[in-house]
Amino acid sequence: MRSLLSICDIKDEIPEILELATKFKEGKINEKPLEDKTLAMIFQKSSTRTRVSFEVGMNELGGNAIFLSNNDIQMGRGEPIADTAKVLSRYVHGIMIRALEHEDVVEFSKESDVPIISGLTNLEHPCQALADILTVKEYFKDFNGKFTYVGDGNNVCNSLLLICACIGMNIAVACPEGYEPNEDIIKKANKIAKENNSYVVITNDVEVAVKNATVVYTDVWVSMGDEKEQGKRKKALKKYQVNQKLMELANQDAIFMHCLPAIRGEEVSGEVIDGPQSAVIDQAENRLHAQKAVLYYFLK
Ligand code: CP
Ligand code: NVA
Repeated sequence: MRSLLSICDIKDEIPEILELATKFKEGKINEKPLEDKTLAMIFQKSSTRTRVSFEVGMNELGGNAIFLSNNDIQMGRGEPIADTAKVLSRYVHGIMIRALEHEDVVEFSKESDVPIISGLTNLEHPCQALADILTVKEYFKDFNGKFTYVGDGNNVCNSLLLICACIGMNIAVACPEGYEPNEDIIKKANKIAKENNSYVVITNDVEVAVKNATVVYTDVWVSMGDEKEQGKRKKALKKYQVNQKLMELANQDAIFMHCLPAIRGEEVSGEVIDGPQSAVIDQAENRLHAQKAVLYYFLK
């Protein structure tokens, strides 16, 4: 029984999962491998893509998904994580959780008898990173380019650092002082990148980071849970907007990526996210294909 809480949990299996995702996308697997299996989906935060893609993914694989908002289950009223995990394990074959605190998902996975799949925590967003790398593979056929992340060193950035290191793609992160990715994750990413002959750069210099990039990625400045710091964050991150002028420093065939939802005029200009270099809708579609591969891998 395995769980997917971090990209490190699938460190050596990423190429295999991506191949499986492509097979699903191309309609090459028509069987219903998860027939009679049920996925519980606990959401402590809002979601459009994660919820719908997991639910549709389970249906397409022949199984079912149950949406459990935190307001509707007893855990939201204080029922212990351990009791919830043990009880749900008797009903369902896997549990997807979008949680406020990463540690809660770790505890959930220790108490559960079925696989736990993270649908985002404050620390990581592994399923997003898988869909993103699938998108990069589709656009460029290989991982030889430079992946640049601009903005807040948040959950999405942490998983991107790890996945790039695992597949040996060079990654540069440009963020203001105080908004760097998680320290432990940087250490892990550096170690893994070294094994795969790629590099990890963390800098405050956005122009240096974007120069010669093949992918320019950003995410919101105020993540779910950071709302109290809204004013401070917008001020600190102001110079880190991805706009046309910045995109011109990247390679000519560079793509723009964003996990969505996005705020036009903050982390990205409308011109870029709605322009010809934007890959954001392909990325969102790939959540479905990548997660079908994850569900098959972990629940079959
Ligand atoms: N990218 C992403 O996880 O989107 P949702 O918050 O809509 O699930
Ligand atoms: N960093 C964002 C991603 C949303 C999909 C957040 O955590 O709110």
